Amino acid sequence: MKELRWETKAEVYKVDELPDGYKRLYDKAFEVARDAYAPYSGFHVGAVALLDDGSMVCGNNQENAAYPSGLCAERTTLFHAGACYPDVAVRVLAIAALNEGKRVRSITPCGACRQVMIETERRQGKAMRVLLCGEKEIYLIAKTSDLLPFSFDEKSLKE
Ligand code: THU
Repeated sequence: MKELRWETKAEVYKVDELPDGYKRLYDKAFEVARDAYAPYSGFHVGAVALLDDGSMVCGNNQENAAYPSGLCAERTTLFHAGACYPDVAVRVLAIAALNEGKRVRSITPCGACRQVMIETERRQGKAMRVLLCGEKEIYLIAKTSDLLPFSFDEKSLKE
């Protein structure tokens, strides 16, 4: 028998400690959260993908009366980036949420979004950093794979 362990590290910043580039993403993630279509939950999530060429691609959650038909902000954003910039790597994905209009503490992406985030990272062959933006604290994770260790991937499909 052997034991395996996974470790997840995050840097935790206060808003006023954030380096300039990240502060821009932080502000933008809250800004795009406002435009989410979330009439059922009242929980508005925004995401911003900073690409290798400096472009920013934004998205937010889009709900539907048939609940499972809606989509989270993270996947809306990464699919938007994948559709418009298929060959440009995503360097940072910033995520922020407003509950009934108020900034909340940093949220962490759901499992399905992590699966999509991880495939984005694998596909581009470069780390995608994740910035979880809270009202007071911000978590910076150096690579998406840290958020979903032991994940399912395309290798299993070929076995
Ligand atoms: N949601 C996101 O967009 N991202 C997350 O990381 C967590 C949840 C959305 C889905 C749904 O529209 C609403 O927030 C409440 O779960």
